[in-house]
Amino acid sequence: MKLIITKDYNELSKEAFKVMKEVLDSKKDVVLGLATGSSPVGLYAEMVADHKNNGTSYKDIVTYNLDEYVDIDRNDPQSYYTFMNEQLFSHVDIKPENTHVPYGNTAEAAKEYDDAVKGVDIQLLGIGRNGHIGFNEPGTPFEERTHIVELTESTRDANKRFFDNDINKVPTHAISQGIGTVMDAKKILLIANGEDKADAVKAMIEGPLSTDCPASVLQNHPDCIVIVDEAAASKLTK
Ligand code: GLP
Repeated sequence: MKLIITKDYNELSKEAFKVMKEVLDSKKDVVLGLATGSSPVGLYAEMVADHKNNGTSYKDIVTYNLDEYVDIDRNDPQSYYTFMNEQLFSHVDIKPENTHVPYGNTAEAAKEYDDAVKGVDIQLLGIGRNGHIGFNEPGTPFEERTHIVELTESTRDANKRFFDNDINKVPTHAISQGIGTVMDAKKILLIANGEDKADAVKAMIEGPLSTDCPASVLQNHPDCIVIVDEAAASKLTK
């Protein structure tokens, strides 16, 4: 696991973009694993600026997203599908049919998505306050594939800011790539900023390999880069 600590979120997004850009430049038909949440917003803005200013093309690029709420309309403003279109897809020349965001609430839908996710060159990840990656909550077996998840109260509480600050409006379930699916990616880039991620970052990097902190599994990945700002790094001791 390679760790980069940046001064602030702006610098974090620029460092993350450097890692992403190297992969984008490596071949034209790169397969990207993408994430939602606040963490990657700055990185996506860098990618959009690079497309506009330098002509980096997404024409042959294929993307697979990590997760989506269950029982939410695809076009709902809070769906991860809408988020991806607003933050990235509608601003670059990617073919809509090459973008994939999981959808559905059945084991069959999950299996179908898992079978489709292939050859991811770089998987982008954020981290939840409880150490979740994707929507793989604490206790999820490391070998789990794409599945339907019941969200913890902590995760729903963290995400209520997108739902009128009302936890009751946050969906109770999600469909998420499993940790096993995530770990198949050739390279992993995890980004985290802010003090409320400091405990999760510490557990991920310095804690034991344990399903209590799903992100600790990344200690086992052969090519994982973690970029955090000083606030998120503030509890690291080593
Ligand atoms: C959400 C998402 C994750 C995301 C994480 C952190 O619940 N399912 O994919 O990485 O929690 O989100 P944020 O970046 O908004 O802090």
